[in-house]
Amino acid sequence: MKNKRESAASDGTTAQPRFHQCAAEIQAYGTVNHLLPLELEETVRLEMTAQLNQLLADTMTLRDLYKKSHWQVAGPTFYQLHLLFDKHFDEQVELVDSIAERIQLLGGISIAMAHDVAEMTRIERPPRGREAVPVQLSRLLDAHQVIIGQVRKLARRAGELGDDGTNDLVVSEVLRRNELQAWFLSEHLVDAPLVHAEPVHAE
Ligand SMILES: [Fe+2]
Repeated sequence: MKNKRESAASDGTTAQPRFHQCAAEIQAYGTVNHLLPLELEETVRLEMTAQLNQLLADTMTLRDLYKKSHWQVAGPTFYQLHLLFDKHFDEQVELVDSIAERIQLLGGISIAMAHDVAEMTRIERPPRGREAVPVQLSRLLDAHQVIIGQVRKLARRAGELGDDGTNDLVVSEVLRRNELQAWFLSEHLVDAPLVHAEPVHAE
């Protein structure tokens, strides 16, 4: 017999949470919504969301590479690099959100989960173990290079197709932030004297 305390209201509503629900997706990955008031053709939005998802996968990978480097860095430059890597991580987190939301805004579906990122990214997988600072820096710079190269192509294509919002996002936010971070890293790989400078001898 039904317990009166668990019964639903006469209109069918109940305070009991409904667990373990599942249903078909409401939109398939790789599609875009129709009829958005953006004055951008569906074909343009399909191409842009596909390219932005590639950029998203690589940016999420770089973001996580920064956290790995932040945790595992070792040596005399530990403190400054520990802080710098985390600053760059935070900035990449913001880029990830901007790219993902641009994809959704265009009517597409942004990738989100680590499995999908791992399948899609073109950035080389690092070992689980700890690497020396010059190797960490080289890996990060290689990852920036992958992203910067893609962003330049994507920006040009977005401009050709009239997707000015995507062009602006990838140039103003993604490209410029990646260029700046690459500069900060590169300066750590200059073999400049720390204590003893070579004196200049007069001829
Ligand atoms: Fe931390």
